[in-house]
Amino acid sequence: VLNLASKTKPEWLERSLEHIDDVLIDHAHCEKKAAGAALRLLFRYPQHDFLQLPLSEIAREELSHFELVLEELRVRGVALGRQKPSPYGGKLHQLFRPRDPDQLVDHLLISALIEARSCERFQLLAGALEDKRLAAFYETLLVSEARHHRLYVELAEQLAPSSEVRARLQALAESEAEILASETSPLARLHT
Ligand SMILES: [Fe+2]
Ligand SMILES: [Fe+2]
Repeated sequence: VLNLASKTKPEWLERSLEHIDDVLIDHAHCEKKAAGAALRLLFRYPQHDFLQLPLSEIAREELSHFELVLEELRVRGVALGRQKPSPYGGKLHQLFRPRDPDQLVDHLLISALIEARSCERFQLLAGALEDKRLAAFYETLLVSEARHHRLYVELAEQLAPSSEVRARLQALAESEAEILASETSPLARLHT
């Protein structure tokens, strides 16, 4: 279960299939950002033992995904380059409550939702791509992102009662759905 409050629209898939190289470039940046987000939490919360190993593993795994996407770009002769990110991540970060442990709970749950959305979209790509090799690539990745989703929710549940975490997850999922629905960017990105 991915705990998302909305389904991706068919237009997203259509545009992504037309501009799959742009999606791959964005994807590479997203994997790097996912690793960075896990690492930042490690720097910020050394006092929480329960976070250390799982977040270190996630960071390494996201970097290995980054390397896989880089290889995919290399094979296709596409340069990575700089990219203006979509406002998705920034808008999600504005939802953080101001104080810990709430803020950490929110941070973990928003990471969980980003993982869930990536997973949902990898699934769509895997089912629709004519390039069977690339489809298989997304099929493998979506399994890890689904696991990351669950792991982030479980980590949040170590900080607050499960019922509270679930209610907050639901509320944040609705905000995530609204943020995505408000995106009007014509660019092919994982999270627009
Ligand atoms: Fe990843
Ligand atoms: Fe992930």
